[in-house]
Amino acid sequence: PPTPVVTVGADGAAVGDTLGARVLAAAAAAVSARGVFRLAVSGGSLPKTLAAGLDGDKGDDMPWSSTIIYFADERVVPLTDDDSNYKLVADTLLAARDGSGVQVVKLTEGLAPPAAAADYEEKLKGMDMADGVPVFDMILLGMGPDGHTASLFPGHPLLDVTDMAVASITDSPKPPPGRITLTLPVLNAGRNVLFVTTGGGKAEVLHEIFHGSKDVLLPAARVRPETGVEWLLDAPAAAQLSSP
Ligand code: 6PG
Repeated sequence: PPTPVVTVGADGAAVGDTLGARVLAAAAAAVSARGVFRLAVSGGSLPKTLAAGLDGDKGDDMPWSSTIIYFADERVVPLTDDDSNYKLVADTLLAARDGSGVQVVKLTEGLAPPAAAADYEEKLKGMDMADGVPVFDMILLGMGPDGHTASLFPGHPLLDVTDMAVASITDSPKPPPGRITLTLPVLNAGRNVLFVTTGGGKAEVLHEIFHGSKDVLLPAARVRPETGVEWLLDAPAAAQLSSP
């Protein structure tokens, strides 16, 4: 795979603007090629950054009615729970685009994590597939200070899952413990895969990812699609990276 591209913005707002521009470009390309834009988003700080990057007239050129939003990972909680990634997206991005026709593929409530994962995988049927793996037009990922991405945590057996597109975890080190997540083969099949990582709390792990030992790769470092991957960082997150 190509070497990851690192793009550093001065602050969170600059990162949001770059993210918005990347999403607009990917959406336009997907809709012109295939008539639909399938976007997978993560939780944490990402929905807010994304909403800011597409806020107001910045998002006016977005093909909202041809956009389908999925979750790169989701917490197995009610959709009204503050821990729900759906709720995060609903309160930010969707609240501002009510009536735009954007569709969202949500977790089915009330299922245990393994059943919720199988159910979510069912909802991906009908997507473009490559080697049996669903292909998203764009996947937006965050990274935790331990190097996890989506709900793929360091040293966890979920990292080795290749026979499922969506898998579950019941012992997530980051609360809440029950989650579903896209698996590594799916992350690596995305047409546009982007990490959005801000804040000084991520500087050390970014140093490890880009300059550390390659013997044991952290989950985020294992996301290396053939289409390339871009990291959008703010200056505090990039503080321990040497210039290219
Ligand atoms: C989740 C996430 C998770 C997140 C990272 C980074 O739902 O918990 O998808 O992988 O993206 O933990 O979170 P922050 O952006 O809040 O640091």
